[in-house]
Amino acid sequence: MTLTEPAPAKLNLALHVRRRRGDGYHELETLFAFVADGDSVELDEAGKGFAVNGPFAGALAAEADNLVTRAAASFGAAFGTAPAGRITLTKNLPVASGLGGGSADAAATLRLLARRHGTAIDDPRLFECADALGSDVPACLYSRSAIGSGRGEQLQWIDGAPGTPGLLVNPGVAVSTGAVFAAWDGIDRGGLGQGGLLDRAQAGRNDLEPPARAIAPVIGEALTLLGEQPGVILARMSGSGATCFALFDSPAARTAAAGAVAAAQPRWWCLETALS
Ligand code: C5P
Repeated sequence: MTLTEPAPAKLNLALHVRRRRGDGYHELETLFAFVADGDSVELDEAGKGFAVNGPFAGALAAEADNLVTRAAASFGAAFGTAPAGRITLTKNLPVASGLGGGSADAAATLRLLARRHGTAIDDPRLFECADALGSDVPACLYSRSAIGSGRGEQLQWIDGAPGTPGLLVNPGVAVSTGAVFAAWDGIDRGGLGQGGLLDRAQAGRNDLEPPARAIAPVIGEALTLLGEQPGVILARMSGSGATCFALFDSPAARTAAAGAVAAAQPRWWCLETALS
């Protein structure tokens, strides 16, 4: 039997860094949203081992310690199940790019094994596995719009804005999450405001943009280009970067912006999508 599970990409519509903690992490307030596109994870019970394919497979193939295999091992340890069959990851998103790719892949692996073994998605052991795998993995486990606090693992659901047209742009650089957090200036600029998802997003900011732009100035170029597009309602970096996104007031505006970005920067990765 073969089972497939999508791993939707995560966006931080806003990311407010409040303070450095003693454990090396940062206390956040963030708005998580998800888009219709992403990687996918497949389980073939007849096989064995782990494989990666898809357009961004190359960046991962060398990594033995993959979040997908770690997620499968952690599910097995928590639920006492035998090793899964062959797991194949189709990597459609750029790696280490602020879209939560590895976290979404790990979360999809947990959901896949939960389906296979009849485990409820709200089983607290599943959340514990996700939490131990990384700060974004719990949000990705549910793939629902949420306000995240703590390291990002404390989730409060918020109504989404499904269908909002979005454009994702990666200017071809990978930045280290740890290095971007370490370069944050330590100034608390306040938490998220009130209101619906898009109101809070527009009133918010990503406090990791300045340090990420200092490390990779091309991120600033991507944000400027997205912010100039007709019909844009928000242009921002996601997570610790380097992927930036823009939301638009119509699908036509998004598609026109995608054309403008491709014409100006043919080497950048660009994906037309929508919030889910
Ligand atoms: O939790 P995860 O392993 O995904 O985090 C990767 C790195 O990102 C951490 O080692 C830390 O440097 C940084 N981080 C942080 N504060 C957070 C989340 C991540 O400093 N809330």
